[in-house]
Order: sequence, then C-alpha cells, then structure tokens
Amino acid sequence: LARTAWLNGVFVAADEARISPFDRAFLFADAVYEVTAVYNGQPVDMERHLDRLERSLSEIGFTTFPARKEIAAAHHRLIAENGIGEGFIYLQVSRGAYGGRDFPAPDPARPTVFAFGEPKPLIDVPSARNGIKVIAFDDIRWARCDIKSTGLLGPVLAKTAAKTAGKEDAWFVDGDGLITEAASANAWIVTQQGELVTRALSNAILPGITRHAIFDTLAQHGLKIVERSFSLEEAKQSVEAFNTSAVALVTPVVEIDGATLAGGKPGPVTRSIQRLYYTAIGADVAKAAPWANE
Ligand code: PDD
Repeated sequence: LARTAWLNGVFVAADEARISPFDRAFLFADAVYEVTAVYNGQPVDMERHLDRLERSLSEIGFTTFPARKEIAAAHHRLIAENGIGEGFIYLQVSRGAYGGRDFPAPDPARPTVFAFGEPKPLIDVPSARNGIKVIAFDDIRWARCDIKSTGLLGPVLAKTAAKTAGKEDAWFVDGDGLITEAASANAWIVTQQGELVTRALSNAILPGITRHAIFDTLAQHGLKIVERSFSLEEAKQSVEAFNTSAVALVTPVVEIDGATLAGGKPGPVTRSIQRLYYTAIGADVAKAAPWANE
C-alpha cells in the first residue's frame, strides 16, 4: 500500500513526491521542521507545534506562514490515509527552490511545504520499558538550537557515535561541561537530593513541546521541576534520568557515559512521569503500559 504524503498542498503517493534539487533545504538546510506524535489517531499538542513552527520560521526571517488550519487538516488526513493510530507526522517548511545557489534569502519566499507520517508504537516499546544507554558527546551544534532547523549534522554525528559505541543515544555537553540536551530530545535528571532537574530554556536547547506538557502535567499534581543547568558529572551521579520528545515521549536513561544509574533500571520518578504523560495524551496506562505501574 503506497504511503500518502503532502507536498505543497497536494496529497501524493510518498514515493512519487518530487522536489527540485535547487530547493534551499537541499542546498543550505534553509528549512525548519516539526515532528508531532499521534496517539489514538489524534495529533498530540498540535497547536503548540504550530506555534513553534511559526516561531522557527519567524526567527529565520519569514513574515508570512503557511495557514495553520490547512496544516492541521493535512495532519488529520495523513493520519487517516496512512492508518496511524499511534506514530508521528513529520512536517518541513523550506524556503523553496529558485534555480540557483544564492545565499541571501529571496523575497518573497516561495516555501516548499512537505509532510508525511508513519505508524509506529511509541508507548509500549523496549526503550520506554527498559530504558536506554547514552554516550556523552561534545555539543558541536550552532548557537541557535532553539530554532528547529533541518541542519542536523550534529545530531547525526552524535547518534552515529552512540550506535558505534553500542548505545542508544547521546547527550550533548557544552564547553562548560554542562549538559544541553539529548541529540533529539530534552534531557532530565533526578538528583541524589531528589530534585527533578532540566536545563532552562535558552538559545542552547530546543523548547520541547513534550517538556512543556510535562511542566503543565506536573504542576497540576503539585510536583516541582527545577530549571537549571547540570554537569555531565552530576548527571552520572544522578539517581534517575530520562529523555522527552514527540517520539521518545518519556524514555528512561539508565546509563550515562559509562555510569550506571540506580541499578540500571528505570526508577520510580521516571515511571510516575511516564504514567502521568501517557494518561495526559489519552492512554489507558493499565493496558498500554502495564510495566509503568510496577
Ligand atoms: N526532536 N531537543 C532536540 C534537539 C530535538 O530534536 C527534539 C525533538 C527535542 C524535543 O522536542 P519535542 O518534545 O517538541 O519533540 C528536544 C524530534 C522529535 C526529531 O528531531 O525527530
């Protein structure tokens, strides 16, 4: 069954979708993107993803944006046509093709807007159940990691190094020895003192939609999050750690740069945040993730 994609307003068979090699996404990575989780056949936090898309576009100089209603409708149709009960939708907006290679952004923009989706289990997966191991990797990315740019060589190199080392992911370490975030997720630790810590928002990290949702959810339950930087050393001595993103949701981290956390098993704070977040996106935890109740 051919997968359906959405390209410049038209639904097409994914393997027949074509763009120009002069597209500025291809030549310059002059493009931004969003990845939205799908659960129960519904996009998760659609409005916040649209807000962040517009913010990324405006930070790279766009003054008009693709219509929100159309993008949201396309998400729903991609979910339906591709039979996505659980999975994700990828959306990319590039500055388009102009037949040459000229660095300055052309005016007016003629964006290329592309989206596709895939069914994929997000909750009941080995990584969420058992946790993952991460390597530490120098944060070699640019100074505007708050923009969700398709310039992803840093994460590509980091995740390749992790795979080569037999681990599942990488956490970026900045020039001061502090963790910024994971290669494609936000990074969290639970300290020996029992603080739940994640780095404060700045140009050094992506303002994660999942991160934001967990702030909301924990606030409803009166649970406290400390927003501050933490070092690789502190992370290695933490009692629990986890990643959050639209595809990782809440993924326990059980080893950091060779240091095993709390016996190498997901801990109770991570499990409770998994339960709260799964519930928040509409999952019945007893059915979808019985292991999160243990
Ligand atoms: N990545 N930090 C980075 C560097 C990311 O690439 C992502 C998401 C996040 C988490 O953001 P959110 O909770 O909004 O997904 C944090 C997506 C999933 C990706 O590149 O595939």
